[in-house]
Order: sequence, then structure tokens, then C-alpha cells
Amino acid sequence: VLGAGTVGSALIGRLIDDRSIGSGSGLDLAVRRIAVKHISKKRPFDLPGLVTDQAEWVVNDPSIDVVVEAIGGVEPAGDLLLAAIEAGKPVITANKELVATRGAEILEASRWSGVPFLYEAAVGGGIPIIRALVESLSSEKITRLVGVLNGTTNYILSAMTAQGTSFRSALEKATELGYAEPDPSDDISGRDTAFKISILARVAMGARVPPWEVATDGISGLTETDIEQASAEDRVWKLIGRAEQTDESVTVSVRPELLDREHPLAAIGGVTNAVMVEGPAIGQLIFSGPGAGGEATATALIGDLVQAMSRPRVRPGARRRPPRILLHR
Ligand SMILES: NC(=O)c1ccc[n+]([C@@H]2O[C@H](COP(=O)([O-])OP(=O)(O)OC[C@H]3O[C@@H](n4cnc5c(N)ncnc54)[C@H](OP(=O)(O)O)[C@@H]3O)[C@@H](O)[C@H]2O)c1
Repeated sequence: VLGAGTVGSALIGRLIDDRSIGSGSGLDLAVRRIAVKHISKKRPFDLPGLVTDQAEWVVNDPSIDVVVEAIGGVEPAGDLLLAAIEAGKPVITANKELVATRGAEILEASRWSGVPFLYEAAVGGGIPIIRALVESLSSEKITRLVGVLNGTTNYILSAMTAQGTSFRSALEKATELGYAEPDPSDDISGRDTAFKISILARVAMGARVPPWEVATDGISGLTETDIEQASAEDRVWKLIGRAEQTDESVTVSVRPELLDREHPLAAIGGVTNAVMVEGPAIGQLIFSGPGAGGEATATALIGDLVQAMSRPRVRPGARRRPPRILLHR
């Protein structure tokens, strides 16, 4: 496991506490090594012999079968994951910034080598949206994705609407409750939502729209008057990540949008996330749940771990051909 902060520690705790995780798929999952930045920091688990500040050792250790990345940021996480793939180790990450910015490159390496690269935890925390799009909805031409993808801003807007508080005091409350990072600028500016909608647009629509090309606007300009006016018109403000596909193009945006109270995403309050998916055959689907938090995110990581390790293994360096599937003779 690379990184033992909020997410990494929750994952490690779960794997230590419940040795039966993965046993239903014939797996015996055990934490072999943990990479951190500050080796002497106190941890919520007691595994002193396993902790190192040399992440490359984890990636290169031949006794390790799979690498989970929960460091965050683009580097060194990206190079570590590429090195793990090169060494034939499946990689799993919770890192939306990395997947949005270097995901195409890592996916390419994963496809060439036949080594799984899974990132369910990078979007929507505990909501199983990536697998739903990749597998369950693979036959559907997704025309629209509309998401409330950032819990911090949704908490702030919900508090401003429910209590009539200012943006500043709602942000202070979010920080006090641990819903906002000490530096919440990625959340407030919409950058975090841009990472997530960029990933979803690629997965659902095959669109390569990197986060820096997503037209992005945050919520800091919304005033109490804007919120009051919306309430008077029976509408609510939400920070929306949106991807729309036509025959010609895909457009991706992040901005505060006014939703009617009847809109399926209008009732998504507090730190909850939700994604509305539309397509011609399925009509409309809504996925909602905890978009962040160590435990919910660890559940998504474990789902990916079990999936990656249950797949047939491929010799490192050997390119895998897609299986030929005969439906009719
Ligand atoms: N927090 C959430 O609710 C949540 C939800 C979904 C996805 N995510 C994603 O999950 C990832 C981790 O988030 P987090 O909240 O767990 O972050 P965090 O609490 O800041 O933890 C980061 C961990 O990475 C370690 N680290 C930093 N640089 C390192 C390096 N060069 N080598 C090895 N370890 C290094 C840190 O070590 P020290 O502990 O020694 O400082 C820390 O243990 C991010 O990509 C985030 O976007 C988070």
C-alpha cells in the first residue's frame, strides 16, 4: 500500500481486521509493505516492520503481487504506478488527479502489458460508478452524465440554502466538521470536480477531455442573495460536472447550476455525491452515496483489489489478446 493517510489507513485497517476479505474469490489478501512520507508519524495501525519511506522498494519487491496507491497528486504516484505495471503488478488507485491527468498513459501501459489498472475509488468514493459504466452499461451510448461530485461544495451550498448562512461561515463549518481540507481551493474552484467529470467522460463516452480543457467555474462567487433568490423560485444551486454527447461532439463542463426542486439531483444534500446517467435504452439512472471518507473509499479499493487479483494473470511483458467469444455457431 502506497500512502497511509485517511484512505490508506482505512484500507490497511480493513485488511488487518478481516482476513476473510477476498476469500470468497479464493484470495488470501495480506498487507506486505506500506510506504509513507514521514516514517515516524503515529499511525492507527501497529505494523512497524512493514512501514517504509522508500515507495520504490514496495513497487520493486518481488514478493508483492499488487500495489494500491493512496498518496495523491500526480508525482511520484504516476511513476510509481507505471513502475509497478512494468514489474507485472496490478495497480489500484484512489487518485482522481492522477487518473484525470496521466490516466490515458497508465491505461495504455496496462493494456499493452495485460496488467490491470483499476480506479473505482477515484470518482464518487464508495459509489460503484466506474464499473457500472465500463461493464453493466457497456452496450449503452451514454448521452449525458450529470454529477454532484464534490462533497465539500455540496455541503457548503446545502448549508447556505438550509440555514441562510454566508459562503464563508458555511466553509468554516465544513472545515470544523472535517468535510473540507485545510486548503479547500481544489474543491471550491471546481478543479476537483473537473478531474472527476473528465474521468467519467472518458470512461462513458470515450472522450479525451483533460481536466485543463474542461470549462470550469467554482462556487465562491455565489452570494446569500443568489441562494435566497433561487429558494424563492423553488430552485437550488448545485456545483455540477456535466458531460453531453451528440453525434458530433462531447462537451464537458463544471459550473454552479440552478436546478428545479423536482430535479433528481436537487435533493442530494450535504457531503453526498450523485451521478445521473442517461442513454437511449436505459433512460435515466441515478447513482448516489458517500463520495468520500476513508471507509467508503476503502470499500471501493477492496472491490478493485478483489477484481484485479481474480483475473487470470498474464506474464509481465506479454501482450494479451482479447478473448474470442462465440455467441452463435
Ligand atoms: N480522503 C478521502 O475521503 C478520499 C476519497 C476518495 C479519494 N481520495 C484520494 O485518495 C488519495 C489519498 O487521499 P488521503 O485523503 O488519504 O490523503 P492523505 O491523508 O494526505 O494521505 C496521503 C498519504 O500519502 C503519504 N505520502 C505522501 N507522499 C508520499 C511519498 N512520496 N511516498 C510515500 N507516501 C507518501 C503520506 O505520508 P505521511 O502520512 O507520512 O505524511 C500519507 O500517508 C488522494 O488521491 C485523494 O484524492 C481521498
